[in-house]
Amino acid sequence: MTRPARAALGAGLAAALVVAATPAAAQDTHLARNLAATCANCHGTDGRALGDMKPLAGMSADKMLAMLADFRSGAQPATIMHQIVKGYSEPQLQAIASYFAAQKPRP
Ligand code: HEC
Repeated sequence: MTRPARAALGAGLAAALVVAATPAAAQDTHLARNLAATCANCHGTDGRALGDMKPLAGMSADKMLAMLADFRSGAQPATIMHQIVKGYSEPQLQAIASYFAAQKPRP
């Protein structure tokens, strides 16, 4: 495949992802909260962790997405997060990160 053709394909795929993500978000206004709730067993309700667990509430979305990408790639060694992060699509992780960024950290 020629380089411009590949670039065009990439742009088309990116546009398709955006289009695919939009109706799902519109259908379920609680989607981000529901996805973020799957992290609560370990990171606390709304990311307000207790004890030694890492809190997620109030973490900037960019920081969280960077950490999750490092878990996914293996750049950041982990006991469990490298597996967990593989269970979510990129749009789902973005929704989760935005949700936690908007939560107030535990005082
Ligand atoms: C089964 C328990 C468990 C679940 C569920 C879980 N995590 Fe984690 N998380 C951990 C552990 C343990 C660590 C420390 C790294 C490691 O050893 O994997 C961690 C670390 C992290 C970190 C790095 C925090 C820091 O300050 O270093 C982020 C970000 C994170 N998790 C996000 C999430 C998100 C988002 C979800 C839900 C999609 C989630 N986690 C679900 C156990 C969990």
